[in-house]
Amino acid sequence: MRTHYCGAVSADDIGKTITLCGWAHRRRDHGGVIFIDLRDREGMMQVVIDPDTPAAFKLAEEVRSEFVLKIEGKVRARPAGTENPNMPTGMVEMLTLDLEVLNASLTPPFQIDDDNINENIRLQYRYLDLRRDTMQKNLRLRYRVSKIMRDYLDSHGFMEIETPMLTRSTPEGARDYLVPSRVHDGMFYALPQSPQLFKQLLMVAGYDRYFQITRCFRDEDLRADRQPEFTQVDLETSFMGEESIMGMVEGMIRDMMLKAQSIELPAAFPRMTYHEAMNRYGSDKPDMRVTLEITEVTDAMKDVAFKVFSGAANDPKGRVAALRIPGGAALSRGEIDGYTEFVKIYGAKGLAYIKVNDVTQLNETGLQSPIVKNLSEASLRAVMERTGAANGDLIFFGADKAKIVNDALGALRLKIGHEKGHVDGRTWAPLWVVDFPMFEFNEGENRWDALHHPFTAPKDGHEDYLATDPGAALSKAYDMVLNGWEVGGGSVRIHKQDVQDKVFAALNIGEEERREKFGFLLDALQYGAPPHGGLAFGLDRLVTLMTGAESIRDVIAFPKTQRASCLMTNAPNVVDDKQLRELHIRLRSPVSTDKAA
Ligand code: AMO
Ligand code: AMP
Repeated sequence: MRTHYCGAVSADDIGKTITLCGWAHRRRDHGGVIFIDLRDREGMMQVVIDPDTPAAFKLAEEVRSEFVLKIEGKVRARPAGTENPNMPTGMVEMLTLDLEVLNASLTPPFQIDDDNINENIRLQYRYLDLRRDTMQKNLRLRYRVSKIMRDYLDSHGFMEIETPMLTRSTPEGARDYLVPSRVHDGMFYALPQSPQLFKQLLMVAGYDRYFQITRCFRDEDLRADRQPEFTQVDLETSFMGEESIMGMVEGMIRDMMLKAQSIELPAAFPRMTYHEAMNRYGSDKPDMRVTLEITEVTDAMKDVAFKVFSGAANDPKGRVAALRIPGGAALSRGEIDGYTEFVKIYGAKGLAYIKVNDVTQLNETGLQSPIVKNLSEASLRAVMERTGAANGDLIFFGADKAKIVNDALGALRLKIGHEKGHVDGRTWAPLWVVDFPMFEFNEGENRWDALHHPFTAPKDGHEDYLATDPGAALSKAYDMVLNGWEVGGGSVRIHKQDVQDKVFAALNIGEEERREKFGFLLDALQYGAPPHGGLAFGLDRLVTLMTGAESIRDVIAFPKTQRASCLMTNAPNVVDDKQLRELHIRLRSPVSTDKAA
């Protein structure tokens, strides 16, 4: 229907008669002449309709926002002084010869170029929201990113193989989305949380290098960086150790960022152990752009009079840690109260602090704080020396179970770091976190859980800990972190059945359950499973970081809300009784249609 995209017309086309198709972005009546900004995927073009073409002019008077038009006309230079250097097509315009209205439009619920629209309205009219320039750019970048990664993997000998969507529960640790079976009364498929087991089986099957850009489903509490269905760039290789795997995928990310957005990442991403990340940053995905650090003071607080500190310091699972804020003595009472409220989100019961007035006086004169009188000089000296405190600083403290202290101070570090500009100025800070523990203790259920997933291989020399001291066993798992986001994670897998059995034993998964749930994998490991390992990137997260969007919803065409519903289609929703009967399902309390979604 058209000869050019609106956004692709240039000064080279001056004098040509062309045909454009697109949406009326804006129409202006300039007494006797009508201007329409015609918009398509590639951009905008200014179209002029004058009364010399009376039929077109009459139609143009009826045109409203978002009408779909086909316009034929002659490209000309814009009159001197009316050029718009901010627009790629800003030097030219088109004088209309013929105009056809291909379709009308209702008045849209928002202006397509308005960037301040309530998100619920955007999601309800997603097809209009997706017309916006930002969203068009985001989805285009997303396509570029996946194309570049696909090409990279292809050129490195990876083959894309699809794995089932209707499958069995996979143990990534989240809740499953279940699909009832019509044929098998009372039975359910689970949607995959990842292709983990299938990609391992493809290695057993000899495919050597597999990848898949695929949807994964997890019924988790949603946040800005989580969706119930999200996309992984998932890969697995045989006969490669963790170093080669990490090196190769690091190359892929570097290549992708360079080609997609001319972003140059450092030649070798720094590495940090999980232990160090937790100790210094309170997080296994530290944002390395923030210069603040957490300091260990547990050992120095064992005998102090302040019970909150000594109590945590003497609890085997407790921790006392400090967060020094350079220049923080200038924080107002109100700000400190605000931070104290903030850490409560993470379970902290308070946020003790010391304002450092004179670091040479380890008493209530030099150090301003309600807790100083209950801390010994030795403990204060340890705090000042280890944090490197200087006059004018403020030191926050967390004292509780280590997990609470890490979560609270880790989050506070990011909040104050970004709010108060304690950042190093880098735009991109990639990091590998390595040496994850195999297991973490689940207090509620009084047992060990796999930190990654139960197919992760123990580090060389750590196999014996599986039975004797599971908490001490480290794994061959690695996470890639970018600006404080976990963008990818993977591991070398267990390829021997006896080791897999030991891990199941440590997880207290009995013989029967092992056979019942993972029998197919345990069997496969006995038919010549090669050493193998891999990783999966969160595509949505990578693209979100690259666009600078606030939520991964902004890089997904049709995302779900925080409550896991789609405001456009109203999914999830009620279904017919007949469908339920076929699926052998009876609702305990039927839902009415208007309550759905
Ligand atoms: P993992 O569970 O770490 O590993 O997932 C891999 C990556 O997927 C992204 N991600 C998510 N993105 C958006 N919404 C979610 N709900 C969500 N959950 C995870 C993250 C994460 O780093 N099978 C293993 C990989 C392997 O071992 O090879 C796995 O799924 O960016
Ligand atoms: P209190 O003795 O409860 O008045 O607390 C004295 C100071 O210690 C206050 O600034 C509290 O915010 C702080 N505080 C209380 N509990 C904790 C905790 N678990 N970790 C860190 N600071 C705390």
